[in-house]
Amino acid sequence: MKKLITFFMIFCILVPLSACANAQVDTQTTSERYVLGDADGDGVLSIRDATTIQKHLAALITIPAESLKQAMVRNGKKLNIRDATLIQKKLVGLIKKFPVEEQEQTASDKDTLVVYFSCTGHTEPIAGYAADYLDADIFEIEAAVPYTDEDIAYYTDCRADKEQSDPMARPKIANSVENISQYKTILLGYPIWHGQAPKIIYTFLESYDFSGKKIVPFCTSGSSGIGSSATNLHSLAPNAEWKDGRRFAIGTDEATVKEWIDELGIKTADTESKELQMTINGEQVDVDWEDNESVATLKEAVKTNPMTIEMSMYGGFEQVGSLGMSLPRNDTRITTEAGDVVLYSGNQMVVFYGSNTWEYTMLGKIKNQNEDQLRELLSNGNATIIISIGSE
Ligand SMILES: Cc1cc2nc3c(=O)[nH]c(=O)nc-3n(C[C@H](O)[C@H](O)[C@H](O)COP(=O)(O)O)c2cc1C
Repeated sequence: MKKLITFFMIFCILVPLSACANAQVDTQTTSERYVLGDADGDGVLSIRDATTIQKHLAALITIPAESLKQAMVRNGKKLNIRDATLIQKKLVGLIKKFPVEEQEQTASDKDTLVVYFSCTGHTEPIAGYAADYLDADIFEIEAAVPYTDEDIAYYTDCRADKEQSDPMARPKIANSVENISQYKTILLGYPIWHGQAPKIIYTFLESYDFSGKKIVPFCTSGSSGIGSSATNLHSLAPNAEWKDGRRFAIGTDEATVKEWIDELGIKTADTESKELQMTINGEQVDVDWEDNESVATLKEAVKTNPMTIEMSMYGGFEQVGSLGMSLPRNDTRITTEAGDVVLYSGNQMVVFYGSNTWEYTMLGKIKNQNEDQLRELLSNGNATIIISIGSE
């Protein structure tokens, strides 16, 4: 009996211990599997993660709390549409790292800086789109005393209300721009607070010497225009070359921001000199693109946003998918080879891992892959192809 009791006691001690050990292993495995951008929690970065974020933001689904952290790929406070855009960009190779992976304030040779202040996350994506398009550095003004929801509950005599009505208010800033002298152009973004820029923008402008630099203000607001908010900043950096400001509505898309930058004429590198890029199931493939009207139109179509084409296997020799648009066609009867990328019927892309004879317009040819590699890439189920403009 004594032996039985001793055995029972040892059992009671050991079983919870081993359960505890298992729990630890599970935690370790989970953290090893932590994949940045993995919003759907399936352990891999894919186009579905961007879609999951879009659905979450549209309140169609809710990303569970444990996946929210990995879904945030930029240095923001709340998930927003830019996280989805950045995931798409990473998948097609337009960015190598997510902003959260970048070392803060590493020395760069860039001459354009996008500075912004954003309390509720509306100005932040506009700043991000601008910085991405301009390939500029980006700096978020962080308040030394962060603004709480109560602080910005306007028309309640909240902190923001008080600061905006006090000409002397200069809220302190927690961070600083490392090397302001390297920048020639500064885009300065803020939310409209009672028709004006938040006073923390005044603090920012009084903290550096902007002589000879171009400053381009922009803002977001519920409904007000940029009004005098930008011109009232001029006296704080009197030796800067101030450009006209621009107001963006909440939720403005990337294409609109790019158009604005094109109009400003401050972008130096031109997409015209950049190549089309293709990924197949997330793997980048080199394509020799044809110099024809169809490819030029495709390039124009993906200038602002990558195109995702859901392909299906067909006939044991090709993947085919709808472009969702028509391209100019100049069909001729061709016998295709593995690697050929063609336009079929004016509105479908076909990528071959075998051969077929039909009326097509040539778009390009995948390089550096032999027939076996192409078959491996394309003949194992339906594929997702993303076409974008490359980073050079
Ligand atoms: C203190 C305060 C004052 C505001 N005043 C205005 C205003 O005068 N006109 C307006 O259209 N929106 C006003 N708004 C709304 C913000 O401009 C708008 O929500 C902005 O997009 C917020 O940007 P953020 O999310 O980047 O902070 C105000 C918001 C706050 C917090």
